[in-house]
Amino acid sequence: MLRDPDVLSLLMRRKPAHSLPQALYCDPGVFQSDLENLWYREWLFVMPACEIPKTGDYVVYELGAYSVVIVRGSDGVIRAFHNSCRHRGSVLCKTRKGTNPKLVCPYHQWTYELDGKLLWARDMGPDFDASKHGLKTVHCRVLAGLVYICVAENAPDFDTFAKLAEPYLAPHDLTNAKVAYQSTIIEEGNWKLVWENNRECYHCAGNHPSLCRTYPEDPTISGVSADGNFPPMIEKHFQRLEAAGAPSRFRLDPAGQYRLARMPLLDGVESYTMDGKPAVAKRLGRITEPEAGTLVKFHYPSTWNHFLGDHSITFRVTPISPMQTEVQTTWLVNKDAVEGVDYDLDRLTEVWLHTNDEDREVVENNQRGIRSPAYEPGPYSQSHEDGLIQFSNWYADSMIRAITGRDMGRSTLAAE
Ligand code: FES
Ligand SMILES: [Fe+2]
Repeated sequence: MLRDPDVLSLLMRRKPAHSLPQALYCDPGVFQSDLENLWYREWLFVMPACEIPKTGDYVVYELGAYSVVIVRGSDGVIRAFHNSCRHRGSVLCKTRKGTNPKLVCPYHQWTYELDGKLLWARDMGPDFDASKHGLKTVHCRVLAGLVYICVAENAPDFDTFAKLAEPYLAPHDLTNAKVAYQSTIIEEGNWKLVWENNRECYHCAGNHPSLCRTYPEDPTISGVSADGNFPPMIEKHFQRLEAAGAPSRFRLDPAGQYRLARMPLLDGVESYTMDGKPAVAKRLGRITEPEAGTLVKFHYPSTWNHFLGDHSITFRVTPISPMQTEVQTTWLVNKDAVEGVDYDLDRLTEVWLHTNDEDREVVENNQRGIRSPAYEPGPYSQSHEDGLIQFSNWYADSMIRAITGRDMGRSTLAAE
């Protein structure tokens, strides 16, 4: 099992613009290092706020050693707490989701308000100070209907991302959404393989017959435009949508952690359906422009998203073990849309249910092949896989910075 100095050495010696060394995808020590140096430090998307619409609704989010309860208070505010009782540490919420008027520990029934204050603890004596035993808080921010948390004691800056992303997200009106469907799958692959697969469409033509009916294979759409330029067709799309009030132009965080862009889908396509027509008659959001494409957002290491004219889809990535990753997909529709009237659930979900399953299979095949002693890092395609070069550079730079406590300068997009 490798330790941080070994991980550092592998990262420093990796071949640029190549897939990573085997241990970075397989080794339990690397997995632990990923958790401690990235996942336990960064802001992570956990769910759309509309997943807990009412007072007392909660979701439990498990990440490595952490368990976090995200709960809506009686004041409507969403807060996050460590799911560990201040008496002797039992988990408070045993199920992944539910509704409770108070948070009651199952062990000795210490009872907490939804804002984390300890309300009641039986027979603790006259000197017991309940105010010193409230639940431990977890940093929590709600951005345009998306809930983010950070389990670190000192969270990194969130405001820069929020300021950039808010105008892009606002027209999608996610605070007036409801969850139409949620799927949670486990992929037998390292979380970085899940991301690598997401960041290219080199594999789409050979694996995604349903998605390819609407989503262009064009690498400028899935990639990161190393030179910052886009073909005239995409420039025109940006201009048309921006004129209609929907921020669209490609924006990439200088550190490479997040990207926003409203990208076109194939000609005549409105949504991710088998015929390309809208999936939901009562639209979610204020974008009425036809062929609005998809607002694609990624935010490493926990989420990528598609926001469409008629509905939105969030994807959450959670590492489970060195070679297991959970992918949770949530389909959001207008809260007033009625199933069977405004949308058909099968039609709404079929493209991405198929696509997720196809992606699971290619990721699992990828992981199995990498486990072979014969595996060696192979070259990324410069034209189709600049998104992977960008992802692996972000990963390596972030890990090196976290392990050494120093910024060693950013990797470039292209092969050095
Ligand atoms: S551990 Fe929670 S009440 Fe005892
Ligand atoms: Fe895919």
